[in-house]
Amino acid sequence: MHDDERGDTDMADKQRFHLKPVERRTFLRYSLLGSVGAGLGGFALASLGFLWPRPGDGLFGEVALGDAEELAAQIAGERTPIRVPEGGISIITWDPTESAAEGAYGEQHAIFGSTGLMALNTQSCPHLGCGVPWCQSSQWFECPCHGSRYNRYGEWTGGPAPRGLDRYPSFVDDDGQFVADLGSMLTGPARTANVLEQSQEGPSCVDA
Ligand code: FES
Repeated sequence: MHDDERGDTDMADKQRFHLKPVERRTFLRYSLLGSVGAGLGGFALASLGFLWPRPGDGLFGEVALGDAEELAAQIAGERTPIRVPEGGISIITWDPTESAAEGAYGEQHAIFGSTGLMALNTQSCPHLGCGVPWCQSSQWFECPCHGSRYNRYGEWTGGPAPRGLDRYPSFVDDDGQFVADLGSMLTGPARTANVLEQSQEGPSCVDA
């Protein structure tokens, strides 16, 4: 092969295997744009996933949940909170005549006569978001994921959760209905609150 021909071949190889500087810049720019686009797309999807209604998010805003006296009688009779899965809550009774309870909870939670009702968020543990079922034997709410526990009033009693169960404001309307505002969640009481000081009443469900 002539030197001229060899030179042409070398040139062709260079063109085939080496991107020109401007092509490399373009390639890098598109790669960067692609990465940013993929990142933003992922963020948008994650945000949508967060905002998307989950099972248990069927109720929103102010919701009448039943006759307040009947609800209180049922909870006291069965010694069990009333679970409302569509709202992700459990309804409990509390005693506003207990020392400190009226001051701590009276402004934002339903009171009628000498009885109080409260809507606790039991769908999402303040630790990492697991559902928190009721344990009939201990008379506490106990999280099966990492063992956080809350007394009957949703006050923290143990485990890694940073606070008590979150809750929703509530009141009793003119028709005697217990109404919870599921659009305005209240952050649960601090670990130190333990205002109603209810002790464990039997074996734990998460230890079993
Ligand atoms: S999610 Fe409830 S203790 Fe971790």
